[in-house]
Amino acid sequence: SELPGQYKVRDLTLAEAGRHQIRLAEHEMPGLMALRTEFGPTQPLAGARVAGSLHMTVQTAVLIETLVALGAEVRWASCNIFSTQDEAAAAVVVGPHGSVDAPAGVPVFAWKGESLEEYWECTEQILVWPGGTGPNMILDDGGDATLLVHKGVQYEAAGAVPADPGPGEQGYSEELLVILDTLRRSLAADPQRWTTIAAQIKGVTEETTTGVHRLYQLAEAGGLLFPAINVNDSVTKSKFDNKYGIRHSLPDGINRATDVLMGGKVAFVAGYGDVGKGAAEALRGQGARVIISEVDPICALQAAMDGFQVTLLDDVIDQADFVITTTGNKDVVSAAHMSRMKNKAIVGNIGHFDNEIDMAGLAAVPGITRTEIKPQVHEWTFPADEVGPERSIIVLSEGRLLNLGNATGHPSFVMSNSFSNQVIGQIELFTKPDEYAREVYRLPKVLDEKVARLHLGALGVRLTELTKSQAEYLGIDVAGPYKADHYRY
Ligand code: NAI
Repeated sequence: SELPGQYKVRDLTLAEAGRHQIRLAEHEMPGLMALRTEFGPTQPLAGARVAGSLHMTVQTAVLIETLVALGAEVRWASCNIFSTQDEAAAAVVVGPHGSVDAPAGVPVFAWKGESLEEYWECTEQILVWPGGTGPNMILDDGGDATLLVHKGVQYEAAGAVPADPGPGEQGYSEELLVILDTLRRSLAADPQRWTTIAAQIKGVTEETTTGVHRLYQLAEAGGLLFPAINVNDSVTKSKFDNKYGIRHSLPDGINRATDVLMGGKVAFVAGYGDVGKGAAEALRGQGARVIISEVDPICALQAAMDGFQVTLLDDVIDQADFVITTTGNKDVVSAAHMSRMKNKAIVGNIGHFDNEIDMAGLAAVPGITRTEIKPQVHEWTFPADEVGPERSIIVLSEGRLLNLGNATGHPSFVMSNSFSNQVIGQIELFTKPDEYAREVYRLPKVLDEKVARLHLGALGVRLTELTKSQAEYLGIDVAGPYKADHYRY
């Protein structure tokens, strides 16, 4: 079928280039391809209308086409203004069997370099379907689609959208003000829109640490409107994507943005969670001397035992050649920090939102100037002041996640693990609505182990099988699960 006007991407003629990349990615995504083989015949997602908000990359294209292969109807937006790969977006719209003149794929609303207003319009587009229907499933990364529905319902119940979001709204920064505008328009057009949409939604599967954090807060406050699966905390997601994915895509982003040698330099990494561990390992692998900061004594001790200096950013701010934030927290690098950095220091964030680095504070420094080196790479020049003579720093992706803004995000193989969890999560919530309440769930460990299993063959791994008597000795089943739920890997 054609998709007249039902999509918004940069340029459909990029579709062929995108299709070639998707074809190669499919080879690197054995988990998703195995799920197509396993579930294609039974079509468990027939009737599912999935609204997806997740970086519109080549890997995500393989995810989208897997959902379609399992029977779902899908609409897609990116979850970041800089993360779309325009050729992937075009290829998904054209579809494997369509053409540029007669696109027959999935409606995508995403392009690299959206404004914030456009970003929220795109998010609205995946939730408001033509013909008056809406989605019955959400696939989210960072929780923006879920947030829009929840805010919409909240304000519809109140009968008005407030002028100001009020205190306690974290992680949304200026974005929240744009959402309020979007919702104000929508409330005027249809005062029941979001309530109607929310009532149809069977559940959400959430990709990342920050989005999961939002979901637990919502559930604890009793405000979650539908069941949620926490994909991030599948072992085969956070212990792989967040760590090994970052180990690949952090240096990729730094290289594509700056091509500055990391060896011999000092790299500061804020946070030593899963993302921080991958970041630190990658930078050390390049020969950088890595320094960590942490607030959690366990992670700080881990970093020290892994051989890293652990200290305060304030103490080493004038030594670092690279400063990378991985905390998922706000206000980690201030404008005052940036004013004290080495000349030409490179500053970037790889956590989900752009509030880790105080970009607004930086822009407000008296006399500061901003030079675009190329898109998503900016030199900020401080005037001579009491700190020192004129000097500049290089900020990547305007403080948004640099691996997706300056490079193409994580590689296919690791995303195959994450996205296999997503597909299994979608099937769970869509086909077993009675088994899930309005809470946040993790996938059972057998399914986590299954995702890992689907990726062993491609790497030539031979798995040892327990004998029956060994299994009895350990008190587990030969077929798993092999660990208790509290095991930490
Ligand atoms: P995590 O919770 O495992 O690690 C974050 C660490 O930062 C924690 O150990 C915490 O104690 C520490 N921290 C918090 N505040 C701090 C502060 N002020 N100073 C120093 N350390 C501080 O979370 P994870 O999984 O590592 O994710 C981190 C962020 O990265 C999240 O926003 C997540 O959504 C995002 N993410 C980004 C990806 C990407 O491709 N760019 C991929 C996966 C996750």
